Amino acid sequence: MDWSDGYKTDVTYAITFFRKMAPAHMAFAALMRRQQAPDPAKPFRYAELGCGQGLGPLILAATHPHAEVMGFDFLPGHVASARALAEEAGLPNVSFREDSFEQAAALPDDAVPRFDIIALHGVYTWVNEDNRRAIVRFIDRRLNPGGLVYISYNCLPGWAPIMPFQRLLIEHARRHPGASGTQVLGAMTFIEDLLDRKLEYFTRNPRVAQHIRTAATRNIRYLVHEYMHTGWAPVYVTDVADALAGAKLSYLCAADVDRTVTQSALPEGARDALRGIEDPVLRELVHDFAVDRFFRADIYVKGPRPLTSAAQHRALRTLKVAPVVPRATMGGPKTPEGGEDTTARAVLYDPIADVLADGPASLGEIADRTGISLGMVVSACAVMVGRDWIQPVVPGIDPAPARRLNRVLADHVLTGVPIVNMAAPLIGSGLPASDLDLAALDILSREDVADASDLAGRLRARLQAAGRPVVHDGKTIDDPAEAERHVAERAAALYGEQAPVWRHLGLL
Ligand SMILES: C[S@@+](CC[C@H](N)C(=O)[O-])C[C@H]1O[C@@H](n2cnc3c(N)ncnc32)[C@H](O)[C@@H]1O
Repeated sequence: MDWSDGYKTDVTYAITFFRKMAPAHMAFAALMRRQQAPDPAKPFRYAELGCGQGLGPLILAATHPHAEVMGFDFLPGHVASARALAEEAGLPNVSFREDSFEQAAALPDDAVPRFDIIALHGVYTWVNEDNRRAIVRFIDRRLNPGGLVYISYNCLPGWAPIMPFQRLLIEHARRHPGASGTQVLGAMTFIEDLLDRKLEYFTRNPRVAQHIRTAATRNIRYLVHEYMHTGWAPVYVTDVADALAGAKLSYLCAADVDRTVTQSALPEGARDALRGIEDPVLRELVHDFAVDRFFRADIYVKGPRPLTSAAQHRALRTLKVAPVVPRATMGGPKTPEGGEDTTARAVLYDPIADVLADGPASLGEIADRTGISLGMVVSACAVMVGRDWIQPVVPGIDPAPARRLNRVLADHVLTGVPIVNMAAPLIGSGLPASDLDLAALDILSREDVADASDLAGRLRARLQAAGRPVVHDGKTIDDPAEAERHVAERAAALYGEQAPVWRHLGLL
């Protein structure tokens, strides 16, 4: 085995940020479970293991100038581009180490500090067992008491029927050496052909056929990174809890802040079954069976610190949230059938959204202004955070570093680098952003824009100067008239609806 331990390194990973990894999001999830978490408004140290091209550490460092952030990845190309972006954006509080997990776990005591949060996303079940053990050793040595771990992974039972498909795919690839992209395409063609031949495995497992048909529509980058690593192995929530127990960690909660609310939307039988289970990890395992879950993002704690009910109530009352999308985008919660619960929308969600249309507000303020109980406001806001309509606020952040980073991201996206987020200082997090969004933010922050059609003209000029096509939902729009219409529509939405939100969030 080479230095990559079976991890495919010839196709770079997409440059993305995951909002559940933001300290304020984790603190909100912990608070919902009556637990204390590191305060994102105070100095803290944060490490991301397997940080890819570093957008996570870059956005967190830019939106928390008082924190020290470190990214670890063994791919030199990832580390080099992350370091270049940090330097360009002038972010002194982020650094990147080109270490494998084994190397990171074995670093001498004084080589890196101890952290308050260690996070890993899309890593744990994509690397082999030796690397998983090294990750746990790193956490054991480097996490402060009271510190949190964010860990996401492919889980069972959701993946159970699909696992033989992945095995078939890598067995075919192993016997057809070449670039990973070519291997994965070859293997997919081979498997799709088998699918057409109605082999018994596919016939008995209709979900597998559906999974393969969907996989066939995904891009090569996704296919390589989802299926081609030889260490790939989904696990049960109990496996992760057992492994992390070795580093003195206990399960705190799912990273989804709306988990307690969405749980109440389960069918009655499942709800009853869960209610009877005391052990939190066993309850999660049964919940995974209840929804046939295939992906989890969880928070673990080294030394839980429960809050009293009074302290939780106080913290929830003062917790501020901010809208991250225009008012018109917000709606109501989903019904168990997947539609919209219009009653809940009218009596609960719309009044909250109306208050937030004026800008960020504390949950207590929302309760006072709407006359809705704090408990109901908390539940609704948890759902709204889950839908990414609003996010918790980190008070007192200097917006300058995030604005510098966004300018650099806008420059790079116009050279074709696939960046899909921008930094949002008020919430200590990132927002999804297309290249048009990043370019528009940059134009609005530097230039005097008269109106939406002026913005559209400037956007077109930027794209033209950079030689970039107009792209929508990942697809290039070839027809010039259609491209022009798309830019005009997007400019109108950005100028009229999104820019006021960006202003509230400190992006402008
Ligand atoms: C699927 S990517 C996830 C990147 C990023 N966390 C994200 O979600 O966008 C996994 C990352 O882990 C890194 N990685 C894989 N095996 C590793 C190892 N043994 N040591 C250090 N990094 C590793 C890869 O280079 C890659 O950047």
